[in-house]
Amino acid sequence: MSNYHIKHLEEYFQVYRKSVRDPESFWEEIAEEHFVWRKKWDKVLDWDFSKPEIKWFRNAKLNITENCLDRHLHTRGDKTAILFEPNDPKEEAQHITYRQLHEKVCRMANVLQDHGIKKGDRVCIYLPMIPELAVALLACARIGAIHSVVFAGFSSQALANRINDCDCKMVIASDGSYRGNKTLELKGIVDVALKECLGVESVLVVKRTGEKVEMQDGRDQWLQPLLDAASTECKAVEVDAEDPLFILYTSGSTGKPKGMVHTTGGYMVFVAYTFKNIFQYRENDVYWCTADIGWVTGHSYIVYGPLANGATSVMFEGVPSYPDYGRFWDVVEKHKVNQFYTAPTAIRALAKESLDYVEKHDLSSLKVLGSVGEPINEEAWHWYNTNVGKNKSPIVDTWWQTETGGIMISPIPYVTPTAPTYATLPFIGIQPALMDENENELKGNQVEGRLCIKFPWPGMARTIWGNHKRYGETYFSAYKNKYFTGDGALRDAVGYYRITGRVDDVIIVSGHNLGTAPIEDAINEHPAVAESAVVGFPHDVKGNALYGFVILKEVGESRVRENLKKEINQQITELIGPIAKLDKIQFVSGLPKTRSAKIMRRILRKIAGKDTSNLGDTSTLLNPEVIQEIMDNAL
Ligand code: WTA
Repeated sequence: MSNYHIKHLEEYFQVYRKSVRDPESFWEEIAEEHFVWRKKWDKVLDWDFSKPEIKWFRNAKLNITENCLDRHLHTRGDKTAILFEPNDPKEEAQHITYRQLHEKVCRMANVLQDHGIKKGDRVCIYLPMIPELAVALLACARIGAIHSVVFAGFSSQALANRINDCDCKMVIASDGSYRGNKTLELKGIVDVALKECLGVESVLVVKRTGEKVEMQDGRDQWLQPLLDAASTECKAVEVDAEDPLFILYTSGSTGKPKGMVHTTGGYMVFVAYTFKNIFQYRENDVYWCTADIGWVTGHSYIVYGPLANGATSVMFEGVPSYPDYGRFWDVVEKHKVNQFYTAPTAIRALAKESLDYVEKHDLSSLKVLGSVGEPINEEAWHWYNTNVGKNKSPIVDTWWQTETGGIMISPIPYVTPTAPTYATLPFIGIQPALMDENENELKGNQVEGRLCIKFPWPGMARTIWGNHKRYGETYFSAYKNKYFTGDGALRDAVGYYRITGRVDDVIIVSGHNLGTAPIEDAINEHPAVAESAVVGFPHDVKGNALYGFVILKEVGESRVRENLKKEINQQITELIGPIAKLDKIQFVSGLPKTRSAKIMRRILRKIAGKDTSNLGDTSTLLNPEVIQEIMDNAL
C-alpha cells in the first residue's frame, strides 16, 4: 500500500526518506494506486537538468478529466463538486454535483469540438470566477486542448500578448464581471485585444452581467444556446502523460511573461497528492481556496487537486470587502467550510478592520487554515491563528510557484508542528538545497542562501512555451544540476525553512508576481518619459508596493503637466493592468548606474524603503552625485 495519506510526524519522516531514497518507486506506487490510466508507463522518470529535460510516466496514457470526474460518478455522483458562491450574497449559491459537472464539461467539450478545437490547440480563457471558468478548463482537458487562462484583471494589451504568444485559436470570455459593488466589462477588452490577434477564429461569450456587448458576425457567439444544444456525453480524448495540459503566464525579472507549460500525468499526481495531505481533506469536508483561477493556485487547488480527490471545492466570485469585511467569515459559516486557503495580503487587509466582522460568525467548522503567495509576516500569522483559527486550526504556510505546479514546502496540518513565518519542512519527494554566492550548497542547519531544488518532482513545469532555451537559462543555469527558484530562504536550527523573499527583480504585490522590466517598458512608452526604474518597498497590506523613479525628457515637465503621474499609471493600466500601478512616482534627473550602465536597484530599493543608513559602496558608480538628489526628494 502506498502512503497516500500521511497522518503523523513519524510517518512523514519515514515516507519522506523513502521518497528521496527511491523517488521512482515512491511516485510509481502513488500513481498506480490512486489514479486511472488508460495505459501504464514504461518508465517512471527520465531527467537531465543540464538540457533541461524532465519526463514523468513515459508513454503512459490518460485523460485527467476521467480522474477528476468520471471515476467519481458511481460513488460521488450526487456529491457537490463545485460550490459556487456568487458576488452578491443575495444571489443563491449553486451546488454543482459531480454528475452535473461531468455533464457541463461534456457539453462544453462538444461545443469546442464543433468549433474545430482539437487535441493540442490552444484556447484562451478570460473569465471571472463563475462556474463556466472551471468547466472551460476541464472541457479543454477533456479533448486534449491546452488551456491558457488569463486573469480577468489584465488589460487588453496584456491579453493580446498572451493570446499571440501561444497562438490561441479560440477565446472564451464573458460579457462582464461583478466585483463587489462594481460591474466591469470584459468582452470590450477582448474586442480591443483581438484587433491584434488574427489567429483567433472564434469567441464564445458567457452571459453574466447582462452588459451590452458587440458580437462580431462569424466570430462571436453566446455560449449558453450552444451548450443547451450540445450532447451531455463526450468521449475523453486520450493524451500522453507528457502532453501539455495548460500554459500559464508568469512574470520574469526580464523580458516578456513566460508561458509556463504544465503537462498532464505528473501534474495530476502531484497536485492531487499535495492537496490530500496539506489540507488533510476528508470525504465530507468543504474546502475553500479564495484564489482566482487566473493564477496557478486556482488551477491546482480549486480545480485539479480537489476534483482529483473527489472533494467539494468552493468557488467564490466576490471580494473580501463586499458587502462588508465579514464576507469571508460569512461564507465560512454559511457553507461550514473546513479548510480555508487564502493569501497574506487578504489577511492583513481584514486585520485592519473591526474584529466584530470575524467574531459575529460561527467559524467552528474550520480545521485547517492555509496561506500562499508571499511570506506571511508574524503579526498577520498571529491574527489569523488567534481570531480565525481560535488557536486550534493549524496554519499551513505553503511555499510554491507557478513553475512548481504544486506545493513544495509546507507543514502538514496535525502532523508538522507549525511556527509563525515558517513554511517548515519540504513536502514528500521535494529535495531543497540552499546555495551560497559561490555556487556551493550550504549543508547543515542555521544557514541562509538561495533556494534551489535538487531533484525533479512530478508537478514541475517542463518548458516555457515556444522558448525552451529561456527555460534552461532562467531556471537551470545559475546552479549546475539544480532548479533555481528565484527565492531566498533560511533553514533554522531544527531544519525548518523560512522563505525570505525574491532575490531577483520580481516584486510580489498583494500576492501577485510582477516583473519590473515590463512595468518600466510601459512607463517608458509615455511620450514625456526618458527612462525609469521600478523597485518594491514594504507596504502594510500589499506586502510590497511599487515605487517608480522616472527621468523625464524635459526637465521641469513635471511642473507643467500636473497629471503626469496619473498619466503614467494610466499607461501601466492600459499596457498591463491595474495591479501593476505605482504607489509612488518620483521624478529624478538621473538614476544611479554602474560603469557598465546597469541601474543599481539595490540603492533605489533602500531609498524607497526609507533605509538609507547603509547604502553600501557607491564609489564605483558612474554618477554617484544623483543619490543625494534622489534621497532629498524621496517620497
Ligand atoms: C512567493 C504562487 C513566501 C515566492 C503559488 C514565490 C511565497 C512566488 C509563498 C511564486 C510562501 C509563494 N511564503 N513566499 N508561502 N508562496 N511565495 O508563481 O516568492 O504566483 O517564488 O505562485 O511567490 O508566485 P506564483
